[in-house]
This record gives sequence, C-alpha cells and structure tokens, in this order.
Amino acid sequence: MSQMMRVAEITRPGGPEVLQWRERPLPRPAAGEVLLRVRAFGINRPDLLQRKGVYPPPPGASDIPGLEVCGDVVEGDCAGTSLHVGQRVVALVNGGGYADFCVVPAGQCIEAPRSLSDAEAAAVPETFFTVWHNLFQRGGLKAGEHVLVQGGASGIGSTAVQLAHALGARVWATAGTEAKCKACVELGAERAINYRSEDFVEAVREGTGGRGVDVILDMVAGDYVAREIGCLAEEGRLVIVAVQGGAAVSFDAALLMRRRLSITGSTMRPRSTEFKSALARALERQAWPLIEAGKVRPRMHAVLPAEQIVRAHQMLEAGDHVGKIALTWN
Ligand SMILES: NC(=O)c1ccc[n+]([C@@H]2O[C@H](COP(=O)([O-])OP(=O)(O)OC[C@H]3O[C@@H](n4cnc5c(N)ncnc54)[C@H](OP(=O)(O)O)[C@@H]3O)[C@@H](O)[C@H]2O)c1
Repeated sequence: MSQMMRVAEITRPGGPEVLQWRERPLPRPAAGEVLLRVRAFGINRPDLLQRKGVYPPPPGASDIPGLEVCGDVVEGDCAGTSLHVGQRVVALVNGGGYADFCVVPAGQCIEAPRSLSDAEAAAVPETFFTVWHNLFQRGGLKAGEHVLVQGGASGIGSTAVQLAHALGARVWATAGTEAKCKACVELGAERAINYRSEDFVEAVREGTGGRGVDVILDMVAGDYVAREIGCLAEEGRLVIVAVQGGAAVSFDAALLMRRRLSITGSTMRPRSTEFKSALARALERQAWPLIEAGKVRPRMHAVLPAEQIVRAHQMLEAGDHVGKIALTWN
C-alpha cells in the first residue's frame, strides 16, 4: 500500500478554486480508530463555510474538509465493534473526508447499506446523523404528528422529509422554486410551500385549521423564528440546525408561554465520539431497515469523479441542487 494519500486541501480561505488536490502521508489510526480506503465522499454546506474560513474545524480534527465517506476498513482498532477488515462501511468523520484514505473513530462507522451504491452510501451520514438527532431525539417527532421542514429540497431537508414520512409523520416542506416544491412532494411531503411566493405561516394556519404544526425543522432562523413561533401547535417544538437568515432573533415570549412551546437546536460536528457512536447505533437499529426496505434513499443531485471537487463546490454554492452531491474514486 502506498504510504501517501490524495487530499483536497483548502489552500487559503476563498471560493471553490482554493480546493486543490495534494499528497500527504497516510494517517495511522490511534486506539479506537480505523483507517478507511475511501470509495466515495459526500459534500455538505458546512464544507463551504469551512472553505471560506468561517467554520474552522474543532480542535484535534483534520484541516482537510469532508464530513462523510463510504469506504473499506483497511486496518485499525475494531475492538468492541462489529467492524472487520475489508468491510464496506459509511462513516461520519470529524474531517478529512476529501481524501482517498481517512481515519475515523470506529464507533462512527456503520456497515454500508447493501442496497446503496458507494456514492449514495457516502451521501448518508451527515444528514442522517443530523436529522435523526434533531428531528426525533431533540424535536421528539412522533408518528401522526405534523412537521414543517424548512428547505425541504436541501441535503438535510430531503433526508428529513423522507425519514419523517417513512416513520408516519405528516410532512410539509418549504422550498424556493416550483421544481424544488415538486421534489419535496416526490420525497413524501403532503404539501410543499414555495417560500418566495407564499407565506408559510398563512399556509400552515389555513391548512391545519388554525392548529399549527407540532414540530418545525429550521435552517434559516433570523426573522423566521418569530413567524415559526406563530404557526406551532400547543406543546410545539422548534429545532434550529442553521442560521442562514441570521443568528439574532426576536420573538413574542408570551406566545411561547401561552402555547407551551420549546425551542432547541444543535450542531453535530463538535459532539463527542461517544455521542456520535451512540447515534450511529440508533441509526443502525432504526433507520438502516428503512433504507434496506427502500422506504428511504438519499436523493442524489449529482455524482462526480473526485477530481471534480471544485465543480462540486460550485454546484452546491449555486443552490440549484435537490438533495446530495457526492464524489467517487473510481
Ligand atoms: N446543525 C448541524 O449539525 C448541521 C449539520 C449539517 C448541516 N447543517 C446546516 O443545515 C443547512 C442545510 O445543509 P445542507 O448541506 O443540506 O445544505 P444545502 O443542500 O445547500 O441546503 C441549503 C438549503 O437552505 C434552504 N434555504 C435557504 N434560505 C431559505 C429560506 N429563507 N426558507 C427556506 N429554505 C431556505 C435552501 O432552499 P432553496 O434552495 O429551496 O431556496 C436550500 O435547500 C446548512 O445551513 C448547513 O450549514 C447543520
């Protein structure tokens, strides 16, 4: 095995063109870690923020971007896991996914679903870990409840719509074009709202007879929060996973009290290995059967060769995509 690997370095903060393929020594797995030969890796909006220099990797994480891969276990410490050398896995990595080899805590690996291609499998971890934790564990979404997914055609949104629908929730989604609204319906949304031409608060109030929705998964924040508070049902939960519309918010706290609402949120990347490993086991038990049964499948916008990483970032930045973009090594 060559002692060198290929990595896409962020050569300086900036646009997609600052990503350049370089060679680096192969990393060695420490205790509790495995080395993966990467078959494919996914890209996510947080990678764009890291490339621009506004979302630095947490202490101890690789400076190479990339939060999710599909690959084969080459060597390492599989003790206490069901992993073995040669196994095809998906992994939520702490960084370093844009490479042909990658080191990851063993607990953050899950056997790759057999029904998915390498690119599809690589597109699973970041959105499944994030959505599972935020929508179901924090938001407590249950079968029969009504959920509004903001940005339903995004990587995160397309996973949220599918998982919520597969688990028996009534799903509404927002998106910025008619084509993306149509995609949300194909993914399982019962109603998609074009947020550029329609007020989602009015639509929710009207569509629920004034009751509101039980859970909202939000990736906008800013002035959305006050509006979301206005269309949550009693005991409703608002879960914030991104602040694309601004982090400073203002809302009517009296409504919060009167309707007994909760607001929560989280970021996945800085969480501990123990937390991510426990989440991996929950996904393995509860979400993997949905994938293997064909009820949930990553919605792929594009699959490109790894060499086209700059183009992949340009595509994600342009925002015309529905679902996920992944790159492969073969
Ligand atoms: N908290 C966490 O742990 C965590 C983990 C991963 C990602 N994230 C965040 O989650 C977000 C989605 O990530 P991604 O990788 O799925 O990115 P993505 O595919 O690029 O999605 C971004 C989405 O935001 C939507 N959006 C922007 N402004 C909106 C508005 N005013 N109303 C409704 N939707 C709006 C866009 O919808 P249209 O294109 O339809 O306009 C687009 O679909 C990003 O902000 C990312 O940083 C958070």
